[in-house]
Parts: sequence; structure tokens; C-alpha cells
Amino acid sequence: MAAKSSKIKTLFACSECGAQTPKWAGRCTECGDWNTLVEEIAGGGADAQVIPLAPTNRSGPTRIGEVRTDTARPISTGIAELDIVLGGGLVAGSVTLLGGEPGIGKSTLLLQLLAARADTTLYVSAEESATQVRLRAERLDAIRPDLWLHAETSLPHVIAAIDQIRPELVVIDSIQTMVDPDLTSAPGSVGQVRGCAHRLVNEAKERNIAIVLVGHVTKDGNLAGPRVLEHVVDTVLQFEGDRHHALRLLRAVKHRFGPTNELGLFEMVGAGLVAVPDPSTMFLADRRTGIPGSAVVPTMEGRRPIVVELQALTSPGMENVPKRRSAQGIDGGRLSMLMAVLGRRGRVMVGDQDVYASAAGGAKITEPGLDLGICLAVASAMNDVPLPADMAVFGEVGLGGEVRQVGHAPRRVTEASRLGFRRIIVPAKSPEPDDDVAGSVRLLRVSTLTEALRAAGVNE
Ligand code: TYD
Ligand code: MG
Repeated sequence: MAAKSSKIKTLFACSECGAQTPKWAGRCTECGDWNTLVEEIAGGGADAQVIPLAPTNRSGPTRIGEVRTDTARPISTGIAELDIVLGGGLVAGSVTLLGGEPGIGKSTLLLQLLAARADTTLYVSAEESATQVRLRAERLDAIRPDLWLHAETSLPHVIAAIDQIRPELVVIDSIQTMVDPDLTSAPGSVGQVRGCAHRLVNEAKERNIAIVLVGHVTKDGNLAGPRVLEHVVDTVLQFEGDRHHALRLLRAVKHRFGPTNELGLFEMVGAGLVAVPDPSTMFLADRRTGIPGSAVVPTMEGRRPIVVELQALTSPGMENVPKRRSAQGIDGGRLSMLMAVLGRRGRVMVGDQDVYASAAGGAKITEPGLDLGICLAVASAMNDVPLPADMAVFGEVGLGGEVRQVGHAPRRVTEASRLGFRRIIVPAKSPEPDDDVAGSVRLLRVSTLTEALRAAGVNE
């Protein structure tokens, strides 16, 4: 094992157990896992895994009260929705990974980000030619004297360009197409992607510049190949949405400098991505009232209330075939659980039914406050009785059929009231609404699913 002779330039390390070997193999001889060996540069490889977080302070231990904090202050990106997600902006010396499916708008967002900055920025295009990027930049109105463009896939050349231009912010589009000639593994392989990312992280820390890496994700939503990347970078952003809808959702799934629960909302239009200032109104725009199977829920995304419509449909399933539980924009496992609770505790017999439930308008929400809305929408569909048009509902549903409190009840009530909802079914112990809306909404407090079904008028 670990034959570290000076002649060996690269070696292979198991990403599961860390064992090292001079030759690549399909299976790690130590832990027996398959496809876990990745290439590393000998000597540098193992050390490079330890990323110095504060390279500006290498003088040894410091009293906690004397540690400088001004170096970790976020700098506004100039794009308000991005600032919300990042908790203020990008931090100098940090590395951010932006993941998303091809065509979702990663390159567009980052070009707009670079153009919105006042300082020197560099866009490294490893996928598209300089001409293609320039044409796109023209459409985005992103032609600025301090925005530099480099169409390059070789990492040493990119680092040379950083030396030459001295940018404050660098975008690498994408990390999967970067190649480090010191590594023998093929471009796009886990070893290459990881090796390049390590070097770029070191560059960012040494130079105290912000770097954003684009990472493609596979169909199942994972970053292609290297999960390892997520551990190396400071921040992981996920850009998602339905390619057939204009709506794009940006979330932080890991963030060393701020919250990870904030949501940024964009719409893809002819001139790039624009902020969605009033998402609730957008999500409710196509809502038709008086239809069974629809419930309106004020949900929370981080500190931001968003009102969404949940829709459900039930239809008799085929005999002797497991019944379908199809969820779109909401959690599938949660839907199955709620259907069991609805049958056992609410006496709405969905056991022999296929159930389809979705958040309308391409919204993607996973939040316990949705539970009660999902149950009422399904009960409404099942019993063919619509909920009143001016009714909204929120609350978590437990396995015992009890309705539990969720966070930020007053903000949810205020947002629903702003959009014209006058009756709101809420968990029994929710706090009183804020004074300015107290006169215009009525809270229907429920402590069980059965009470909620009755309050909504969707019980049989
Ligand atoms: P792109 O940023 O290239 O996606 P990614 O880098 O994630 O692969 O954007 C892809 C789509 O966005 C493309 O299908 C065209 C569309 N688009 C617009 O609708 N408006 C625009 O202004 C731009 C630049 C792109
Ligand atoms: Mg792209």
C-alpha cells in the first residue's frame, strides 16, 4: 500500500476509506468498494484535502474575541435574489458551486452576476466559444470593460489568466470540463474534477478572491460524479425548475457563511433571468375557484412567505395493482404517509384509489406546513366538494391525526390575507394574527384532521 516513491507522480486514493495505491483498480483492496479510487497528485493530494479556511491568519492560535471578522463579510452581488440566498452576497476567498441541470440557466445567471459587479471579473468558458458567450452577453446587456472572458479548459492557463487580470471574482463554467495536465485521468473523470476543484479552492484562499464553479447535475439531481466536490467548497447552490416553466428556484444546500433555507426566485425571459417580486400572485395566477381537489397554503421558504395552490386528484386504481401515489413539487414519501393518516384517522378512504397531488405552477415545496393542505385537497377531490374560495390552510399533520403547529404562523396569515383569503384553518395553538390583519381574517383553529375536514366542509 501507499508506495510513495519520488518517481510516482500520481497515486490513487479510495474516496470511501482513504486507502492509497499506485495503480488504478476497479475495486479498493482495503474496503472492497467498487469505483471509489480517484487520482491524486502524490504529496499534494492528501494534503490538499485539508483546506485552509483562513489563510490570512497563519500565526497560530488566537483568542476567539480577537479573530478578524471583516474578511468573511459578504459583498453584495448586485442581484437581489442571489443576495437573499447567500445571506448578503459572496465572500472573498470563498468557493461556491452552482449545480443544476443543463439548460436551466446557470451560465446566464453567472454572466449576469459578473456584469452586475463593479470590480474586475473573469468568466472562464470551458464549454462555449468566446463568440458564443459574447453573443449571449449582448442579449443580457452584460458587455462591460472590466468583464474578462477566457475560453479555456486547461487549469494552468486559467491560473495564468487570473495572475494576469487579477479579478475579484472568477466563474469557471464548468468544473467538469476543466483539465489539469498533471493528472493522467481522463477529462471529466472524478479524479480530474476533484483535482481541479482542490487547486481552485487553494487559489481562492491564497488570493482572497471569490470563485464560482458551475457543476452539472445528473437526472437524479446529484452533481455529476463528484459528491466529493460538496465537501471541498464553502457554498453549494442548487438551481432548479422545470425547463417547460419559466420559473427558476435557487437554493443554498450548504453555506458556511449564512443560512441554507432561503429561496431565490427567478423567471427566464428574453433578456435573461429576472427576479420574481411577488411569487404568491404568480403561483395563484391561473387558479380557478370552485373546483374540488384544490387547497391554498401559505408556506414559508426561509423567511419568505409564499402562497401556493395544491391540487389533488383521486381515481379508482386497478384491481390487484399497488395504488399510485404520484407527487409533483411535493415530497412523495410525505404524500404516502399523509394518505395513510387520512384513511385511518380522517376516515377518507383513499386506500383503493390512485392519488395524484401537485403544487401548481412549477413550485417545489417541502415544508411540514403543507401537510394539512395536502390532506384537505385529497379529501376535497375524493368527496367531490370544493373548499370555499376564500379559504386557506396550513399545519403539520402527525401520525395520530393531530394537527401540529408550524413556524411563522402570523406571517403566513398576513400573506394569505394580503391575497384576499378571509378564512384560514390553522393549528389550534397558533399565535394570534398581527393587529393590522386581525380584523380582516378569521382563524379556524383545529387540533385534529377530523376537525379540519369539518371546518373546510369537505367531510362527507
Ligand atoms: P443557459 O444559461 O445556457 O443554461 P445552462 O448554463 O444551465 O446550461 O440557459 C439555457 C436556456 O435559457 C436556453 O435554452 C435559452 C434560455 N435563455 C433565455 O430564455 N433567455 C436568455 O436571455 C438566455 C441567455 C437564455
Ligand atoms: Mg451553460
